[in-house]
Amino acid sequence: MNQKYLVPLAAVFLLFLVAYTGVEGAGLQWFFGIVIPYLAVIAFLAGFVKKVLGWASSAVPFRIPTTCGQQKSLPWIKQNTIDNPDTSGGVFIRMLLEIFAFRSLFRNTKAAFGRNASNRLTYSWEIFLWAGALAFHYAFLVVLLRHFRFFTSPVPSCLQWLEYFDGIVQIGLPGLFLSGAVLLGAALFLLARRVLDAKVNYISQAADYFPLFLIIAIAGTGIAMRYFTKVDIIGIKSLTMGLVTFSPVIPEGVGGLFYAHLFLVSVLFAYFPLSKLMHMGGIFLSPTRNMANNTRAVRHVNPWNYDVPTHTYEQYEDHFREKMIEAGLPVDKKE
Ligand code: HEM
Repeated sequence: MNQKYLVPLAAVFLLFLVAYTGVEGAGLQWFFGIVIPYLAVIAFLAGFVKKVLGWASSAVPFRIPTTCGQQKSLPWIKQNTIDNPDTSGGVFIRMLLEIFAFRSLFRNTKAAFGRNASNRLTYSWEIFLWAGALAFHYAFLVVLLRHFRFFTSPVPSCLQWLEYFDGIVQIGLPGLFLSGAVLLGAALFLLARRVLDAKVNYISQAADYFPLFLIIAIAGTGIAMRYFTKVDIIGIKSLTMGLVTFSPVIPEGVGGLFYAHLFLVSVLFAYFPLSKLMHMGGIFLSPTRNMANNTRAVRHVNPWNYDVPTHTYEQYEDHFREKMIEAGLPVDKKE
């Protein structure tokens, strides 16, 4: 068994147990239902802002957009305006496609040796990571948005529409929400890829597994609450509304599973700014993505350049003219 995923797996299991037994055994509802969520939100906001401010104030002295198409050049050479934009408008479109469609991941290829019993290095299109990642992120977004019904009263009609479309398959009672199932399935797929693909496994660390296990546990506990153990939604709503209106209450009869779900979510939020999950904010500040490639049209001078003392040829010749003439070397000026 691989230690790189056993430790984060055990950590997530332990976190679950801490909250579950803390509530069921020690009656710490107020701690897991009020103190921890507030602390998590503060840690999330403060950490997020600090990280983004740090990136925003970092110097970017060079034009370093990553490009993969024809740069703007002579009028009769067709430019690839999306993959190699030279204007802010082009960069904006490129960013939109990156953020909403994971375009660069779509272009991802896989390298492998020895296909068809040959020893040649071959590249193939790798669509599954893109599909899995897209499914995972959109499902997460929908689940998160749907949860706003716990924090709003009355629930806005757009959320009700979202719930309606998410539950449109009308399987089971309470009806299946597609996004919850897709979230769990996609997270399990991303985990399987890390565990089973030898190359990805080799470069995966505990910090790659921990958020996956955490999200799988959050989705798992959520699904268990909705479809299997059932929970007192009215009681939970009084707790969540109490949290957002800063007048927290602890309802009677809400069990440890809900507090474990909430605790795991709190850990995810607090951990978020310290982790690779910050790519959510980082994508916007990535100089390899958010810069226009106009290096042929505009001269970009490195602001860190300092005056370098130079010794021109004229100065050199002035210095050595006599010796050059003596040695029979050609000189520009005779005197
Ligand atoms: C990262 C944030 C969260 C994720 C990814 C998440 C995920 C899920 C999932 C997948 C479900 C299964 C049912 C469904 O698809 O809606 C669920 C249910 C549930 N979640 Fe969450 N959750 C999150 C945050 C929260 C928070 C902050 C609360 C409350 C404070 C909460 C309370 C609940 C409750 C009460 C249910 C059961 C819903 C029902 O019975 O209809 N969740 N969650």
